[in-house]
Amino acid sequence: MINKIGIVGGGNIGGVLVSEIVNRRLARNVALVDVKPPEFAQGKCLDIAEATPVYGVDCNIRGSKGYEVLEGADFVINTAGVPRAMRPDGTFPSRDELLAINLKITDLVAAGIKKYAPNAFVISIANPLDAIVYRLFKKLKFKKNKIMGMAGVLDSARYKYFVAEAAGVSVENIEAVVLGGHGDTMVPIRSACRIYGLPVEQFVSKSKLEKIEKRTRGAGGEVVSLLGSGSAFVSPAVSALEMVEAIAWDKKKIVPVAAYLEGEYGVKGLFVGVPTLLGKDGIEKIIKIKLTPEEKKALGRSVKAVKSTCAEVDKTK
Ligand code: APR
Repeated sequence: MINKIGIVGGGNIGGVLVSEIVNRRLARNVALVDVKPPEFAQGKCLDIAEATPVYGVDCNIRGSKGYEVLEGADFVINTAGVPRAMRPDGTFPSRDELLAINLKITDLVAAGIKKYAPNAFVISIANPLDAIVYRLFKKLKFKKNKIMGMAGVLDSARYKYFVAEAAGVSVENIEAVVLGGHGDTMVPIRSACRIYGLPVEQFVSKSKLEKIEKRTRGAGGEVVSLLGSGSAFVSPAVSALEMVEAIAWDKKKIVPVAAYLEGEYGVKGLFVGVPTLLGKDGIEKIIKIKLTPEEKKALGRSVKAVKSTCAEVDKTK
C-alpha cells in the first residue's frame, strides 16, 4: 500500500481520484487541496470518508484549502485549473488569457509541492497539459524521471475503445498507442495498433480507421460538447491511477506518458507523449518504436505545436 497520495484540485477529476483511491485500497492517506471556498476540499473529503464504512476501507482522508496537507506525499496528482467559462459580462477569455491564469495557478501548485512534498512523484493532468507539466517541471526542478503528464494513457484508451467498437471485439484484445502532444495534433500510431496481436487492418477498414483516428484526436472535445459544461473526468482520473500503480508496484509497465525528452524522438527540452517504462523510479526508460514516414511527419507536426505552446509559457514569468 502507498503511504500517501496528494491531489491538487478537488473538482470533477479530483473527486473521482479520491474515491477510486479508497475503492482500490491504494493508499493509507489521501490529501486533497482545493482553494474553493468555503471549505470545498474538506466537504468533498468528508463525503468520501463517510462512505468508507460502506467500502469497508480504513483510509485517512483530509481536505484543505492549504497545501500543508500534502506533507510527505509519495505521489501528487495535479488537476488544478480553471476551465474556459463565460465571464459575467458575457465574453470569454482568450486562449492566451486562460493560459496565463492557469500558469499562475500552476506556480502556486509548484510552490506547494516543493515545500511539502519535495520527494513525490508528480503526475499532472491539468490542461493545457503540455504547457502545465512543462511549467511545473521548470518551477519544481525535480528529476525528469519523477515528473510526467497524463495524456497518452487516456488518448490511447479512447483509441482502443473506438477500435474495439468498430471491430466488434473486447477492449481487452486491443493494443494501441497515441503519441505526441495532448491536443488535436496527437498521433494515433496505426502501425502499432494490434487486435489479438494481429494488424488492426485485418479487422477494420482503412477508411474506418481514418475516421477513428480523427475521432481520437477530437475525443476530449466530443465529451465536452456532449456534457455542455466541464470535461471528461472519470477516464482521466483512472488513467492517472494506472501510472501511479505502475510506479508504486514497480510493474515495469510500458505506458505512454508525457515525458521530458532530451534527444529521444529528436525532441529536446519538451514534454511529449512517448512510450515509457514505468517502475519504482518513475520513468525508467523511454521506449523507441519504429514509426512509418507518415507517422514520423505527424509526430514532428505535433512536437512543433507543443514547442510553440511552451514558447508562450516561457514568455510569462
Ligand atoms: N490550488 C488548488 N486547487 C485549485 C487552484 C489552486 N491554486 N485553482 C483552482 N483549483 C481547483 C478549482 O477550485 C477546481 O475545484 O481546481 C479544481 C478543478 O476542477 P474542475 O474545474 O472540476 O476541473 P476537472 O474536470 O476536475 O479538470 C481538471 O484537468 O483534464 C483537465 O481540462 C481539465 O484542466 C482541467 C483539469
